[in-house]
Amino acid sequence: MSKTVLVTGGAGYIGAHACKALAKAGYEPVAYDNLVYGHREAVRWGPLIEGDLADRPLLAETIRQHGIEAVIHFAAYAYVGESIEKPEKYFHNNVVNSFGLMETLLDTGVKKMVFSSTCATYGLPETMPIREDTPQHPVNPYGETKLMIERALHWHDVAHGLRHVALRYFNAAGADPDGEIGEDHSPETHLIPLILDAAAGKRAQIDVFGTDYPTPDGTAIRDYIHVQDLAEAHVLALRYLEKGGESLALNLGTGTGHSVRDTIAAARRITGKPIPSRDTTRRPGDPPVLVADATKARATLGWAPSLDSLDRIIGTAWAWHQKRFVENPARKAAH
Ligand SMILES: NC(=O)c1ccc[n+]([C@@H]2O[C@H](COP(=O)([O-])OP(=O)(O)OC[C@H]3O[C@@H](n4cnc5c(N)ncnc54)[C@H](O)[C@@H]3O)[C@@H](O)[C@H]2O)c1
Repeated sequence: MSKTVLVTGGAGYIGAHACKALAKAGYEPVAYDNLVYGHREAVRWGPLIEGDLADRPLLAETIRQHGIEAVIHFAAYAYVGESIEKPEKYFHNNVVNSFGLMETLLDTGVKKMVFSSTCATYGLPETMPIREDTPQHPVNPYGETKLMIERALHWHDVAHGLRHVALRYFNAAGADPDGEIGEDHSPETHLIPLILDAAAGKRAQIDVFGTDYPTPDGTAIRDYIHVQDLAEAHVLALRYLEKGGESLALNLGTGTGHSVRDTIAAARRITGKPIPSRDTTRRPGDPPVLVADATKARATLGWAPSLDSLDRIIGTAWAWHQKRFVENPARKAAH
């Protein structure tokens, strides 16, 4: 019988791709999502339990009924700007509800968790590329909530043997190369889908926030990691825990940075569209450069990104972007 894994946030962008990777690897993913930001139609590789993390009786029942052996915990709010305006919303969902999940795992005897952390826990790092031992000083409530869970997981391991892998993603991007699922955030704040919205004429232009950074072309540099490569890292992290691996945190990125201008230029080339852009001022708290040193993930999990060219990332995202609006033109109006 295949091992069942609870995937909180399994109807979301990265969670749905992880469910596909889990099913391919022989696991049965049980998606647990309240559909606040997730999509029912993205859950295709196992059951969807429509529920909120705060509903602890339902969580416990789901774990018992499905014989859950491990949890991959994606469910969270992830809008940095909103977290600055409404920190209470973020501390409640990302921290209080994650504490509830951890207590439920203790009650039900589940001892393995893969946790979605983020490069936002590093804040404005002074050294590049970022290693796991680079000091973590988040500069927004979102990053702070993720760091709090990393710390809480550490102490839950010490006290209760709840082992975890905290995966600190850099910028997730791209879509399933088979075109079955992709990124569909509403509102959308991520650079690549916004550029593609401009390519498709759904927005007038793409705003470039900051052109005076100390980078070669003056725009901010980010490390884009393909969502399928991220998804596969979760399967490897699970296997690592199954083999008795100890708790740890790992960066997931390609180690290569791309500036905003490079990214727009690549999208123009791939889509063949002009993509108007508008230069504007920096956003507070946006670091000039965020690039991962992911040597530890390679060494510990044997993970290596395979879809790591920017062209491949944008190409899969563009294919998905076009398919999504052809299949469901009503969505176009909703955005
Ligand atoms: N997208 C990125 O670039 C990125 C980078 C670093 C970290 N992360 C983290 O990865 C995870 C997934 O990100 P994503 O981009 O797929 O986001 P997403 O919004 O697409 O997915 C999150 C899912 O969690 C669900 N959810 C939220 N709160 C819930 C609750 N209380 N109960 C049940 N379900 C709930 C939402 O409905 C959604 O389907 C998040 O934890 C995010 O912080 C994302």
